[in-house]
Order: sequence, then structure tokens, then C-alpha cells
Amino acid sequence: MRMRMSTTTEMVDLCATGEVGDGDIRRGALPSGHAVAIYCVNGEFYVTDDICSHGDASLSEDGSLDGYEVECSWHFGRFDVRDGQPCAMPCEHAIRSWPVKIENGRVFVDAGAHAL
Ligand code: FES
Repeated sequence: MRMRMSTTTEMVDLCATGEVGDGDIRRGALPSGHAVAIYCVNGEFYVTDDICSHGDASLSEDGSLDGYEVECSWHFGRFDVRDGQPCAMPCEHAIRSWPVKIENGRVFVDAGAHAL
């Protein structure tokens, strides 16, 4: 079976780098309305889906950063913000992580990286 991979690139401007302090999380949205969480860890920026894969919690509103891990305050599940992989129960399913590019002091993601 052949899988089709999307090669579409759609760079989306989410916010200014100065709007996300080190160790902070900010909510953003793709043009489709899909909510994402923007993280800053040690001066590097990461973007994942905003909604926890265990429930309906918003990671940008109900989560907190501990190094590269975001902890969901609803049931204390965790994800690695670098790749969206779960790293603490009860979270078992990954959330999507979005390729980030910093340009002219702005945080961009490739919204074409995943089919929505
Ligand atoms: Fe996030 Fe349960 S809703 S850990």
C-alpha cells in the first residue's frame, strides 16, 4: 500500500517571539481555526496541538512547562513539546508537533505539515 505524503508548505505567522517569555505557553491558531500551543524553552520555540489527547484541556491555558515537558493540569499527563510524544500517564497518544521557523522576530509554523 502506498501512502501519499503532503509536500505542501504553508507558513503561518503565529506571534512575535517577544510575546512568549522563556518557560511560557501561549495559545495560537492556524488559518483553519485549529488551536495550537506555542512554547518557549531556553530561548527555543516549539508548537504543538493545544488540546490534550486525554481530554479537552487546553495545554496553553491549563498546562505548565517543566523543561521540555508540558503538564496538563487536568490529570497531570505530560507531553514532550519537541515532538508531541506522551511522557506521563494518563496520556498515551501523541499530539501533533508543528515545524517552527523564526524569522524577523516572529514565530512561524508550517501549517501544511499535517493534513487536518
Ligand atoms: Fe489532559 Fe487528562 S485531559 S491529562
